[in-house]
Amino acid sequence: TDQSSLLEDVRRGMIPAHIYNDEEVFRLESERVFGRAWVFVGHESEIPQPGDYVVRRVQEDSFIVSRGEDHRIRALFNMCLHRGMQVCRAEMGNASHFRCPYHGWSYRNDGRLVGLPFHKEAYGGEAGFRRKSQTLLPAPALDTYNGLIFISMDPDAPPLREYLGDFAFYLDYYTKQSPSGIELRGPQRWRIKANWKIGAENFAGDMYHTPQTHTSVVEIGLFREPKAEKRKDGCTYWAGNGGGTTYKLPPGTLEERLRYVGYPDEMIERMTRVWTQEQLDVVGRDGFMVSAASVFPNMSFVHNWPRVEDSDDVLPFISIRTWQPVGPDETEVLSWFAVDAEAPEEFKALSYKAYLMCFGSTGMFEQDDVENWVSLTNTAGGSMARRLLLNSRMGLLEDDATVVPPLPSEQFSGPGEAYVGYGEYNQRHLLRRWADHMERPPGTAEQIRVGGDG
Ligand code: FES
Ligand code: FE
Repeated sequence: TDQSSLLEDVRRGMIPAHIYNDEEVFRLESERVFGRAWVFVGHESEIPQPGDYVVRRVQEDSFIVSRGEDHRIRALFNMCLHRGMQVCRAEMGNASHFRCPYHGWSYRNDGRLVGLPFHKEAYGGEAGFRRKSQTLLPAPALDTYNGLIFISMDPDAPPLREYLGDFAFYLDYYTKQSPSGIELRGPQRWRIKANWKIGAENFAGDMYHTPQTHTSVVEIGLFREPKAEKRKDGCTYWAGNGGGTTYKLPPGTLEERLRYVGYPDEMIERMTRVWTQEQLDVVGRDGFMVSAASVFPNMSFVHNWPRVEDSDDVLPFISIRTWQPVGPDETEVLSWFAVDAEAPEEFKALSYKAYLMCFGSTGMFEQDDVENWVSLTNTAGGSMARRLLLNSRMGLLEDDATVVPPLPSEQFSGPGEAYVGYGEYNQRHLLRRWADHMERPPGTAEQIRVGGDG
């Protein structure tokens, strides 16, 4: 397919079906999307102490995300400077040093090479090989927001805050409910035979699938919201580099609405202290509560409030996940439970339970969703899919005018553009970002070199 006409179709909301399972598209994504975008790899609360580390990947590249004795967070390319063995083979832990299993070179947790067996005999000591100044290769760029750690393969990536843009406004609902921010548990990790873009699109804006795909969850009364008539009252918003869906809450004050979602009063009190007036107004004045969301390219959020067991009470939970591409038809999902660090212990325990029930690897929503995505991916790999343009134009009329006007600021206090009701606004936004990336190669990559300046 001609690449520029493909991107033109995508921008109109007509999606060439094969982009969900195609070797060539995937190869280009590796270079142009994941070779440049900010990718979420973990949260500071996962590595609170000096020496704590987690190992995370961006596509094929493995990184040790560690906290040094100086408390600084680094992402070190997990490949030995000698012959390229993986220096760290554990998923997480605490270590002052990493010793390569192959020939035993050892590195401090800030990346510096400190141990080299038979340095003198084999290399003639410092005269033959200068051990000092050698370090594991750092990720080209690393930045954080509310404790969320992102890395980019592009040394010239814009600052993370700039990349997120106005989505940061919405990010706070999920990651800053008190001055202490969130703590993460997990991640659970599993693989699905589906293309990575499908999940990101679904979480960004697909309110339309809930009444159909998740019927059984509604029927058993687990979840009081996703009845069709409720979902259409919510709005989808897009701001900066991300967007998501909301539910419309019943009339009430800010406190009443946050209680309706299941937050205890002491948490509500902290939220009113850390959120800006505009952030509070989206909930208290406008009556919208954020639900699922995605940040381009592959990070998503969930905020839901299912019933807990047989009681009438609901309990909110927050989850963060990444759709880590493995191949055109395979994705590794990393899914974390997130909770306000200052929340009462009992709330944390119940909220975790609510998360596992809905969106853990065996969660009920998870099972329903993935069945669709695997099937879609499979069919997208065939020859007929190359002739099909999928319709992702919901919310647009034939002349590209929107079915409903965007919400005016009197009805929606958040930044960006918001629309009430069903529409594929956000899926199109996400794929337009994708098209923008696919159009041009990233800037000159940093020279690959052995060792760095520390
Ligand atoms: Fe690591 Fe040789 S490959 S010490
Ligand atoms: Fe779903």
